Amino acid sequence: MKKCILSLTTSGHGVGCSLCIDGKIVGATTLERITRKKYDILLPITKMDLETFGWHGNPNMYQESIDLPFDLDADYRSLDFNDLESFQRLIDYVLSIGGVDIGDVDTVTYSYRYNENVKKYFAEKNRRIEFIVPEHHLSHACQAFLPSPFDEAAIMVVDGQGVPLARKGYDQLSGCLAYGKGNEIDLLWEFPVRQSLGGLYSCITKICGFKTNEECKTMGLASYGSMEYFDILRKEIKYDSYELDIRNILRLIRNGSIPEKQLYSFGQMNSLLRKYKPRAKDEPYSDMYKSIAQAGQKIAEEVVIYLANWLFEKTGSKNLCIAGGVGLNCVANYQVLSKTKFENIFIYPNAGDNGLPVGQALYAYTMLARNPRVYIASHDCLGKEYASEEVRNAVDAYRDKEEIRIVEFKNMQDLYNVMAQHIEAGSITSWWQGRSEYGPRALGNRSILADPRNKDMKDILNSRVKFREGFRPFTPSVLKERSREFFMLDIESPYMLLAPNVQPGKSEIVPAITHVDNTARVQTVDREINERYYNLIKAFERRTGVPILLNTSFNVAGEPIVETPEDAIKCFLSTDIDVLGIDHFFLSKIKSK
Ligand SMILES: [Fe+2]
Repeated sequence: MKKCILSLTTSGHGVGCSLCIDGKIVGATTLERITRKKYDILLPITKMDLETFGWHGNPNMYQESIDLPFDLDADYRSLDFNDLESFQRLIDYVLSIGGVDIGDVDTVTYSYRYNENVKKYFAEKNRRIEFIVPEHHLSHACQAFLPSPFDEAAIMVVDGQGVPLARKGYDQLSGCLAYGKGNEIDLLWEFPVRQSLGGLYSCITKICGFKTNEECKTMGLASYGSMEYFDILRKEIKYDSYELDIRNILRLIRNGSIPEKQLYSFGQMNSLLRKYKPRAKDEPYSDMYKSIAQAGQKIAEEVVIYLANWLFEKTGSKNLCIAGGVGLNCVANYQVLSKTKFENIFIYPNAGDNGLPVGQALYAYTMLARNPRVYIASHDCLGKEYASEEVRNAVDAYRDKEEIRIVEFKNMQDLYNVMAQHIEAGSITSWWQGRSEYGPRALGNRSILADPRNKDMKDILNSRVKFREGFRPFTPSVLKERSREFFMLDIESPYMLLAPNVQPGKSEIVPAITHVDNTARVQTVDREINERYYNLIKAFERRTGVPILLNTSFNVAGEPIVETPEDAIKCFLSTDIDVLGIDHFFLSKIKSK
C-alpha cells in the first residue's frame, strides 16, 4: 500500500500544495499558477473560505498586511457564498500528478491558523485521513535538509514570521538554526519575531515603495545605493547579547524581567526606519531609497554570515542547507558561501512559504513515521506533465490565424537550431517544455529567452514585454561545464539562488546579464537534469561561442508564470514576443510590413 501525503500551506505569499508518495515528492504547485491570479490566497473570498480558513477574524487585517491589489471591503460584501472551487482545483491538480484521488490520501499536513476548520473540510471528504499540523520553522528546516543531497548538514532558516506557537506562549518565531543527520533534525536555536530579519527586509521593501512579495526588487535596487544608511542602522545591531522582551508588558510583569540571550538583535532599528517616508507610487528612486535598500541588503548579508559562522562552530559540518523566505536572497546566499567555511550549500528552490508543503510532507514521512530519506530534490519541475496531444490541441486551435506561422519539427534538434538562430538574430523568444517549475524562478521550462551579448537587450525586453523596473537584472542560464569561465563560482547553482561575480573581462561579452555591481544571478544547466533546455543553450553556443542565454520568467508584469500550453500561446500572442518554442512546435508571428 502506498503511503500518500497531501500537504498544503496558506500564507500571505500564496497557497502551496505538494503530494508525497512513499517518501518521494511527486508533484507540487502554487494556487496562482492554476487560477492565474498572482500571489493568489483564495480571493475574492467566499463564505466557505471564511469558514474553512477562519478569515472572518478581521478581514481588514488582510488588506493591511497582505498588500494585494484588491478591495476586501467590496469583495467581502459581494461574496460568492457557494464553494471553494479554486482550492479544490489546486488539490485535484496535484493529486492528478500522482494518479491518485482524495480517497487514496492517508495524511494531510497543513499549516496555518484555524487548523480545526481545515481538518473538518478534509474529514468530510475522507474519514480515514490523518491530519497533522507541523510547526512552521521546523517544516522549513525539513524543507531545507531532508531533500538535500547531504547525509548531515547545518540548517539555517530565516524568514519573516511563522504562526503563533503554543510552546512559546503563542508568540511567533522568525527562524531557527538546526543540525540534520539521517532522518533527524535537532533544533539548536530559535529566533523570536521581534528579531525578524525577513520582517526588517519587508519593512525596507515598503519604504522603497514596493509591495509584499517584491523583496527581489529591493535586492536589485540595493546595488545602486551608497553605504550611508547602512552605517547609521548598523550601529543598532548587537550580537551575542542579552535582551528584554518589553513588547508585552503584561507578560513581562507576570514572568518577571529575565533578559534572554540573543544571537543578534536590532535595537531601535524599527523606530529609526519609521522616520523615512515610503516612496510614493510614481516617485523617482532617489539616492535615499537606493541607499536604504543597500542598507537592508547589507544588514541581511551581515546577519546571515554571522549565523552561518555560528552554525559552523556549533556543528562542524561542511554542508549548509537553507530555507525560509530570506533564502531567496541570492546575493546574501553567495556571501555566505564565499565568506564562511561551508564548502557545500543547498538552498531549497522554493525556499519560502510556498515551498513549505514539501518540508511538511517530508517531516510527516521521515521524522514522524521514522522512515529513511528516499527523496533528493534534483530539480524543481514538479508541475503536471502535459501529453503531446494536449499541446497539439492547444496549437491546433490557432491553425486558422493568419498572423501566426506554425511549424512542427519531428526532430527536436531542428527546433533548438531555429530557436538559437532567432535568439542570435535579436528576437525575443519564449520556451515552454515539460513540467512547470514549483518555485518562483523559471528554470528553462517556462522561460522568455534572449541574447545575453546584446547590451541593449535588458531595455528591449523591458520596453517590449516585461515592463520591469530598469534597475532589476536579468539572469544567465549557463552550461554547467562552462560556468567557471564566466562566473566566480566553484559549485553548481541550479536554482538561480547564488549571485557570484562575473569573471574579469567577461561582462563585456555578456552585458545583458551582468548587474551594475558586476554580479549575476546564475543558473547552471545540467544536461542530465534538463536535456531540452541544455540542448537549446548548446545550439546557441555552437552558433556564437557563448554558452549562455538570458532567461526570464514566461509571464508579463502582474501575472503568474504560464502553466498550460494554452497559457503559453495566449501570453505569446498578447505580448511582443517574437517566437514560441512549445514542445515540438515552433510558432512565429507574421508581421505586416
Ligand atoms: Fe516561513
